[in-house]
Amino acid sequence: MSGFFVSFEGIEGAGKSTVLKEVARELRKRGYQVIETFEPGDTPVGKALRQTLLAPEHSKMHYVTEVFLYFADRAEHVQKVILPALEAEKVVLTDRYSDSTFSYQGYGRGLGLEMLETLNQIATNGLMPDLTILLDLDVKEGLRRNKKLQKNDRFELETLEFHEKVRRGFLELAEKNPKRFRIIDASMPLNDVIQEALNHIVTALEENNG
Ligand code: TMP
Repeated sequence: MSGFFVSFEGIEGAGKSTVLKEVARELRKRGYQVIETFEPGDTPVGKALRQTLLAPEHSKMHYVTEVFLYFADRAEHVQKVILPALEAEKVVLTDRYSDSTFSYQGYGRGLGLEMLETLNQIATNGLMPDLTILLDLDVKEGLRRNKKLQKNDRFELETLEFHEKVRRGFLELAEKNPKRFRIIDASMPLNDVIQEALNHIVTALEENNG
């Protein structure tokens, strides 16, 4: 398989989707074939799962139920979107992937990382990103940015403490996987964040092709 797989990760409001879109545009200008995708919800089955997962009226969903729905979405995403694009030698940029489960359900909800890694291995058939861009941001700032967008799903309604655990989770995962992760300070001006993400990805692509 000769495509290249990049995930964008981070807490709410870190700017992942905006940065991903701009990076995709710049990569296309440089001649790369790029697909933009996201989790949860970028397949027909995933769309239904996303609605179930994020509906505020499901605030009492059991954590184990929740994690299986994320894994179901990921299995469908890998099989129907990511693998076909990688087989067609494309650059795949995804807004969230496995590290979101490890951070939100593992660190945030307190489910065991070992169990999550085993289930994730099944859901993804072992496919992990070649590179992960972590947009790191102060939790209060992230939630403040999201409030402006009037986002109001089940996770936006979680406590500050939950989001702090998630942020720490991402940073710990990055520390454990320094080869795969690049951490970017998402409090910088947007253009600087985009440029830094682009530089990391282009460098990794060139290393991969060379
Ligand atoms: P988003 O589209 O705003 O990123 O919303 C997705 C929400 O789902 C976000 O709050 C993070 C959460 N999430 C998890 O808790 N676990 C996961 O595995 C994924 C992919 C997302």
